[in-house]
Amino acid sequence: MDKVRLAVIGIGNMGSAHAKAIFDEKISNATLSCVADIDEDKLKWAGEAFGEKVARFRDYNELLSSGLADAVIIATPHYLHPIIAIAAFNKGFHVLTEKPAGVDTTEVEAMNEAASASGKTFAIMFNQRTDSLYLKLARSVREGKLGTIKRFVWIINNWYRTQAYYDSASWRASWNGEGGGALLNQCPHNLDIWQWILGVPDTLKAFCHEGRFHDIKVEDDVTIYAEYKSGASAVFITSTGEFPGTNRLEISGTKGKAVVENGKLEFFILDDDERNICFNSDEAMPKAHYSEEIIEAQKAEDGHILIIRNFVNNILFGEELIAPGEQGIKSLQISNAAYLSTWTNSEVSVPADKRLFSRLLNEKKEREIIKYHSDAHTASLKESAGVYSSRWDVTW
Ligand SMILES: NC(=O)c1ccc[n+]([C@@H]2O[C@H](COP(=O)([O-])OP(=O)(O)OC[C@H]3O[C@@H](n4cnc5c(N)ncnc54)[C@H](O)[C@@H]3O)[C@@H](O)[C@H]2O)c1
Repeated sequence: MDKVRLAVIGIGNMGSAHAKAIFDEKISNATLSCVADIDEDKLKWAGEAFGEKVARFRDYNELLSSGLADAVIIATPHYLHPIIAIAAFNKGFHVLTEKPAGVDTTEVEAMNEAASASGKTFAIMFNQRTDSLYLKLARSVREGKLGTIKRFVWIINNWYRTQAYYDSASWRASWNGEGGGALLNQCPHNLDIWQWILGVPDTLKAFCHEGRFHDIKVEDDVTIYAEYKSGASAVFITSTGEFPGTNRLEISGTKGKAVVENGKLEFFILDDDERNICFNSDEAMPKAHYSEEIIEAQKAEDGHILIIRNFVNNILFGEELIAPGEQGIKSLQISNAAYLSTWTNSEVSVPADKRLFSRLLNEKKEREIIKYHSDAHTASLKESAGVYSSRWDVTW
């Protein structure tokens, strides 16, 4: 295979930008061969944007049976990610799915099994893993630059969204349509970076407030407190209802601390390990010496394009995946546990009780149908199809 024939399933805000980037040849060794969407307007847009050389399907199963593509990018609402991915793996396709991996880890486990049985390339769109600062931080923590980790604190409430955003598509901000709120839509990136750097925590207690800032049924305000068997703790705070927001990640360890904020990563590294200072100093509050290092963010190409390129290069040349698809379950384990902790008002282990989670999620969905079945979603967003929106960038 010289070139990978890519198909995009779901050409809404995100999928239309992926399709346009591939069509515009931003991904070497790949062509856009087809797209699928259930929405006639989206297919009409694709016809105008790409012409007749790119086949259009209303039913993704027809696309999968067409013989026109080698790999699919899935950019539909979340619940469909595992369903479409499993269908694609079973038909021998390579798959790049949008985040989150799904809604319920039980479905994602089935997707991971299908991926492994197929032997095909499986990647997930965790484009923030390409950010130079998170990359440097993750490597430094793994290499022990901060010593043994004590605390991880991320306040990431600059995911501001208006009511018009939530009203722009009927699947948004509902348990039936989206399966969650800020944790499942905006924060999979941050939860992934968290687990990428530190691993999945062992226990957590969470406070997910539903419709605190918007007229929505899912959470738009979250605080998670988590613990690791190593003794490290983590606090994760997010919302979509505070403006101006903050994006500050601070990790402290026995050798110092790292802070990522305002587009730079700062290391404060002690000359001596703090545990030595604590137990061997005669002074009550010694001014231990540390050195500072500041790393500015490097402007790179859009992370979505880097992930698609990496996916294609893995298929063709075996390039190591930046975000292997099987890893998508980890951030979902954190968000599933946070929901379960909120619903049961208790501390839970991570991964959480899968059966209980599925049962309580289904109960929420059933209650929502009764209460919200006649909702009308009519707002339209001022956004253009086919472009990567700045609201998906890492913002400072
Ligand atoms: N990685 C990122 O930075 C990023 C940014 C935004 C959205 N996303 C993800 O992309 C996905 C889509 O989000 P969006 O904002 O583009 O939503 P959207 O509503 O704009 O687009 C979803 C599209 O899927 C289509 N669709 C629904 N059911 C379908 C089916 N059965 N077959 C084919 N198409 C179907 C819809 O008609 C719609 O056009 C979500 O999972 C979201 O989390 C990722």
